Amino acid sequence: MPGATFSRRLVTAAFAERLLGWFDRHGRHDLPWQHPRSPYRVWVSEIMLQQTQVSTVIPYFQRFMDRFSALEDLAAAQSDAVLSLWTGLGYYARARNLHLAARRMVIEGVPETLEGWAALPGVGPSTAAAIVAQAFDRRAVILDGNVKRVLSRHGAVDTPVEAAAAQRRLWALADERTPDDRAADYTQAIMDLGATLCRRGQPLCDYCPVATDCRAYAQGRVAELPVKRRRKARPTRRRVLLWLEDEAGNLFLEKRPPTGIWGGLASLPECATAEGIDERLAGLALDRHDDWRDMGGFRHAFSHFELEASLVAASVVPRGVAESQGEWHGLDALAASHPPVGLPGPVARVIRERAGLLSATQDAGRRDD
Ligand code: ADE
Repeated sequence: MPGATFSRRLVTAAFAERLLGWFDRHGRHDLPWQHPRSPYRVWVSEIMLQQTQVSTVIPYFQRFMDRFSALEDLAAAQSDAVLSLWTGLGYYARARNLHLAARRMVIEGVPETLEGWAALPGVGPSTAAAIVAQAFDRRAVILDGNVKRVLSRHGAVDTPVEAAAAQRRLWALADERTPDDRAADYTQAIMDLGATLCRRGQPLCDYCPVATDCRAYAQGRVAELPVKRRRKARPTRRRVLLWLEDEAGNLFLEKRPPTGIWGGLASLPECATAEGIDERLAGLALDRHDDWRDMGGFRHAFSHFELEASLVAASVVPRGVAESQGEWHGLDALAASHPPVGLPGPVARVIRERAGLLSATQDAGRRDD
């Protein structure tokens, strides 16, 4: 239907024009991966930005680029060095996939097409499009969480966003709205709109450049959309973490299996219950010198469960050969900004607190707590 195509083009032009006009005045133009903008820097930033806010990503991105300024540096790195720079950012499979993809790209070349990017580990269709649009300024259609929110409101899509029908509708809307020109700016603009005005809570519709034809706004349904399936309550998983120090004050860490929660990171040995801790210690070929000491604990939310960790500490001495390989590290090295291994965020925090406490005790004159 030529008429429909014509009117869709008009809508596209109007949507993109208004959005880009707003972006020129209010969008984010000083993000570190925009200056300079290279396929390598855009790719790393887009992987870090998956499920993670810009403000969280910026310091991680800068440290990562200081250490691995080129693809070849990343490909040549040890996996511990990559995971170390990811400590605290979460979703560590991203770092493992990034490393794998870097190794593949130095051999096979850096892709320039959507299909080429989407074939790399850790790069889904929306991330591939965000990379192509920003790195090559070529039209590509993105649909990340922010964009889904914008489009489901603008088009009043009121079926649950995770459902296949809604996904198809949203991809179609995203395609219709994406202009032929200014691909990089449009991509950043629609993500910025979602992050700053079309927010999940308290959206700022009064300032929105596309509110005039937003169907949810017209219908007074902005707060209802997008429709999410109700999440099941997250189950709690309780674990006891063992803080084991040798006579020199080094801490015992275990390398976790390469996949799963905290995959590939070094962490404190873990037990399902307090009853199992002495058996676990025997399995590690460590002899305990003194009684277990309670070190408090922490809670940490994963996407599918909540971890409730309690920590117990003891001084130990190594004996013979252990069932699994552990590593001893000095607390100061672990508490440094570049630890020698990747650590889970909450474990890194406990280590830093502990390292701080130790120096506070040594320097007790300056503190009164
Ligand atoms: N989320 C994913 N990519 C992004 C980007 N380039 N800017 C802001 N948020 C993002």
